[in-house]
Amino acid sequence: MPFVIAVDGPAASGKGTLAQGLARLYGLPHLDSGLLYRAVGVAVETSGGDLGDAAAAEAAARALGPADLADPRLRTREAGEAASRVAVYPAVRAALKAFQHAFAAQEPGAVIDGRDIGTVICPNAAAKLFVTARPEVRAERRWKQLVGQGETVSRAEVLDDIRIRDERDSGRAASPLKAADDAVLLDTSEMTIDEAADAARRIIEAARVRQGFTPKG
Ligand code: C5P
Repeated sequence: MPFVIAVDGPAASGKGTLAQGLARLYGLPHLDSGLLYRAVGVAVETSGGDLGDAAAAEAAARALGPADLADPRLRTREAGEAASRVAVYPAVRAALKAFQHAFAAQEPGAVIDGRDIGTVICPNAAAKLFVTARPEVRAERRWKQLVGQGETVSRAEVLDDIRIRDERDSGRAASPLKAADDAVLLDTSEMTIDEAADAARRIIEAARVRQGFTPKG
């Protein structure tokens, strides 16, 4: 059975960085599932469509190809907002499911980060992490990242974005953001990146030993 690590959590919690680090450590491929939703949102906007139009979003999700995930526009603030708007549609989520399932089925395993990986996409994942941090801490991290990318935005605007996104992602009916019952919670508010990576590694190691997975090399 593939060794699957599910890393979920709210926007800018650090889950992507932790997932990447775990993937490197164990020699596993990594999927940032947020990119799929971002690509759908950007595709709808680029074609002049309306993010409130569920059918347009579903069509964009069905037409998505691997090349769409490399677009640098997916990392923008606007793409994050568009993603969370199209992510509420069950038909969009259903259209993106097969890709995520295929990714998770690879041998010897995979690391996937998102909002519903441990609850809906891979409920049988060998290891589940739920990464959180206080909204103010997440806003500060995301603000630095956006300014580093050349965006002009204030800390207060980023904190607002984060609060709106938290509410939308946790409150939606389809696959809301929530920790799986068997996920281990990791609050990185008071941790440096290295401390969080260390804590994540310790948590996942226990699951790795349980499943008997041995990384190559
Ligand atoms: O993780 P990231 O911030 O890139 O995700 C963008 C948006 O995509 C989230 O706010 C959420 O609405 C949506 N998403 C989701 N399920 C996932 C990953 C992302 O609904 N597995």
